[in-house]
Amino acid sequence: MRVAMLTGGGDCPGLNAVMRAVARKAERSFGDELIGFVDGWLGVIEGRTMPLTVESFRGTLPRGGTILGSSRTNPFTIDGGVEACRKALDANGVDALIAIGGEDTLGVASRLFELGVKVVGVPKTIDNDLSATELTFGFDTAVQIATEAIDRLHTTAESHHRVMVCEVMGRHAGHIAVWSGIAGGATMILIPEEPFDIVAVCDALRKRHEQVGKFASIVVVAEGASPKEGTMALVSKQVDDFGHVRLGGIGQTLADEIEGRTGYETRVTILGHVQRGGTPTAFDRVLATRFGVAAIDAVHDGSFGRMVALQCGQIVRVPLTEAVGQLKTVDPEFYHGVAEYFFAG
Ligand code: F6P
Repeated sequence: MRVAMLTGGGDCPGLNAVMRAVARKAERSFGDELIGFVDGWLGVIEGRTMPLTVESFRGTLPRGGTILGSSRTNPFTIDGGVEACRKALDANGVDALIAIGGEDTLGVASRLFELGVKVVGVPKTIDNDLSATELTFGFDTAVQIATEAIDRLHTTAESHHRVMVCEVMGRHAGHIAVWSGIAGGATMILIPEEPFDIVAVCDALRKRHEQVGKFASIVVVAEGASPKEGTMALVSKQVDDFGHVRLGGIGQTLADEIEGRTGYETRVTILGHVQRGGTPTAFDRVLATRFGVAAIDAVHDGSFGRMVALQCGQIVRVPLTEAVGQLKTVDPEFYHGVAEYFFAG
């Protein structure tokens, strides 16, 4: 078979590990020929490809990013985009396509499948907000990076008796904030799923500083978190091809509010793309490898229109429509169960 791969959306540690696994099994077990479309769906529209072999992935297992490049291009919002995709797939003799991406990239894959394209999806996002899979690769790495940052913020916060606001990624779901906040012993964790009350946030900090006698606090805030009644404006209104606002800025706004209301000296750290860069954790390398092997197996079973997923420790196949239908947000029971015992005290 002639199998194509692409990586779309925000990059993520483990992308190369997925493709490396596909290449090994495709070449050695099935005798497939592989090509890569460069820069996500943009490369498909423009017919830009590169040959891929086992050799292409030598040394890439620990490398973050993607050797194929990525983009946030959506063929369904570009005039003639879908037709251009179909032409490129035909022109390159592609029998099957493996699309590695998050909600947006796999949303396109799902729609193309309905139009007859033979596609298998692999779930990628540091945000871990894809449904039908318990985990996406890249999430563990992002949590590890954010936790290390929070650990470092503790010592400097304590030395200066400051409040430290740490902004992490997560525009619609607060998984990174919750996991890194719990692991890093944050005072408070604010997530997009639960608009926060700035008065309650400041009261909790005052209580901790004045009554409990802890003169330093760490507030972890997901970039998509917002105050109740929309009292703090977003810094950026720029949107991408999928209509997502470019976020980043709630951390500074929140820090200003906390300092203004409590008088506690407050600093902000925005982790930003550091969370997405660099080497994947061992866990993500293993998960990505398992996904890659499962994806090429799905191709050879003719199991198209499906995404490989992790459920109860096993790799399974789920319909793409199930994966992209609804975002997986933080379970309120998990969030509140932990909040009650550990936050703000
Ligand atoms: O890929 C997901 C993500 O990392 C989000 O957490 C974040 O909001 C967004 O991508 C940032 O996108 P960009 O790299 O386009 O600025």
